[in-house]
Amino acid sequence: MTTTTIAMDGPAASGKSTVGRLLAEKLDYVMLDTGFMYRAVTLAALNAGLDLADETAVTHLATSLTLDVQSAAGHEDGRHYTALLNGQDVTWDLRTPEVDANVSLVASYVGVRQEMVKRQREFGLRGNIVMVGRDIGTVVMPDAPLKLYITASAEERARRRWRDRQAQGHPDSFETILADVKRRDDYDSHRQHSPLKPAPDAIIIDTTGQSVEEVVDNIIEKLPVNSVR
Ligand code: CDP
Repeated sequence: MTTTTIAMDGPAASGKSTVGRLLAEKLDYVMLDTGFMYRAVTLAALNAGLDLADETAVTHLATSLTLDVQSAAGHEDGRHYTALLNGQDVTWDLRTPEVDANVSLVASYVGVRQEMVKRQREFGLRGNIVMVGRDIGTVVMPDAPLKLYITASAEERARRRWRDRQAQGHPDSFETILADVKRRDDYDSHRQHSPLKPAPDAIIIDTTGQSVEEVVDNIIEKLPVNSVR
């Protein structure tokens, strides 16, 4: 059996986790959406009433958390996976505007990143995995045989995120979501440690105007021949 890691990075709301999930399903791989980890640390820090600017306290908290993912089986609410923080299902709590507003700061802390990258690599050892994030091709899995950078215009990404939020009954305005997407992209791209950027050998896929199916089929064509089981 061939084991392979597919590294998938890209800016906020680029559809990475939707594409990653469908791709993993088609290849019979597992998908790890690493963003869930940074969101879970942020949620835990908010719940604990920490000052999020206190890097030492947030980093200390990050190392103490139990984080896990399970399949979405048994839930009919549109989730891609179930996220567990200290054993509790926090899948939707990770997607609030408050977490969106604070996650990039938490993800900029080097100690938080070191801890999460260690956990991501352990997860990656299982092989046959689509790992989704910001720094997978550049830092977490630099030897991945296939690296993809999934992007789309900021307006299209904000529109997709707005539609998802509407479908879930949240009234956030398109303008607020667009501003958050642009702010996070800017912050994530300019941070000191592991900034968001395509690996030099990543294939850049602009999904503006493309359906998820089209994007996934396009990726499958690019797979190294012997990696499809
Ligand atoms: O789903 P969306 O693209 O909006 O965000 P996400 O993938 O859940 O990531 C949330 C935030 O976590 C990002 O804005 C980054 O600040 C951070 N992140 C990161 O720094 N490195 C990763 N590998 C994944 C996420």
